[in-house]
Amino acid sequence: MINQHYRELQDSYLFSTIARKVSAFQSSADLRQKPLIRMGIGDVTHPLCPAVVAAMKEAVEEMGRKETFRGYGPEQGYDFLRDAVRQYYAGRGVLLNAEELFISDGAKSDVGNILDLFEPNLTVCIPDPVYPVYVDTNTMDGRSIVYLDANEENGFLPLPDQRVKAGLIYLCSPNNPTGAVYSRDQLKQWVDYANGCGAVILFDAAYEAFIHDSALPRSIFEIEGARTCAVEFCSLSKTAGFTGTRCGYTVVPDELEREGLSINRMWLRRQTTKFNGVSYVVQRGAEAVFTPEGQRQTSETIAYYRENARIMAQALAAMGVSFTGGAHSPYIWLKCPDGLDSWSYFDRLLREAHVVGTPGVGFGRNGEGFFRLTAFGTREDTEEAMRRMQNC
Ligand code: MLT
Repeated sequence: MINQHYRELQDSYLFSTIARKVSAFQSSADLRQKPLIRMGIGDVTHPLCPAVVAAMKEAVEEMGRKETFRGYGPEQGYDFLRDAVRQYYAGRGVLLNAEELFISDGAKSDVGNILDLFEPNLTVCIPDPVYPVYVDTNTMDGRSIVYLDANEENGFLPLPDQRVKAGLIYLCSPNNPTGAVYSRDQLKQWVDYANGCGAVILFDAAYEAFIHDSALPRSIFEIEGARTCAVEFCSLSKTAGFTGTRCGYTVVPDELEREGLSINRMWLRRQTTKFNGVSYVVQRGAEAVFTPEGQRQTSETIAYYRENARIMAQALAAMGVSFTGGAHSPYIWLKCPDGLDSWSYFDRLLREAHVVGTPGVGFGRNGEGFFRLTAFGTREDTEEAMRRMQNC
């Protein structure tokens, strides 16, 4: 009667486990002198920018007037937002048709929901370590997973293994959790491999806004050949502080077909059946992110988080801790000091420094002995966390 594959899942989702542990610690420890600093889940601390707030307020007013009220919207998003996102891509030389863009409530949902389109007996290639949603959603469907080892030797950027016949491939760049970013040449290898074996790449670009080197690709569609083998997921969560507001977008190119079926038409069919779209007010807010004013304001916030990452990198280097990430990503991926395993370091940092991070092993077997810190905190918390880590 029930889906037996749920038995194969870990007891709870990584960030729920951490939240539970932290709340148990909070109720047992004295935090008055040293309040807790959260650098675990990649949740932002800066509020929505003024351009977004103004647009959402106006949209609320519209919804409260008979003449401008709107009911159900198009499941795939309003044209005004799809056009704004298309312009954003066009700015980087990526030309998309309107029907290739689907507005979503964030990358996480679509990354999981896209699996409705694929049969359960496909081989899925998933980097290890990586965002746990890819593994969990495929485990729920009972797919067999081939792990792509990401480690210090390959700079946490695994490349195709020609011996594996992949059906689906997950790539996340800039990577969550390691902060590693694929180069154009490396992504081209993946695109050629996928086109060669008929696989579909599910490309998670949620952290693209943190790339500050024009030589690095921010979208897989900057790579020739990607339109016949890739779907891209992106989100405004980390770009514009939408973690609590919820809005993202998914690009499914017209040319992407498998077994005579258009993946784009299948996704449209799936979305119109199972999803009623993102609210009008939120879509107006999202549209404002792509205005010149919104772009200026959101890039100021990203610069603030990048400065946090720089401060963290500097402090860790001074402590002699080895790490990657932070340059084109809000995440710093560090090697646990004193040979500790990930959870022991989590416990120690929580107990001694009252700092919450994410144990690397929560992102996969290869994450054992590593630890992830986010740069999404306030400046004060970031500096204080580094001081406490230095002290302990
Ligand atoms: C993370 O901390 O890995 C992310 O915030 C999770 C997410 O984006 O869902």
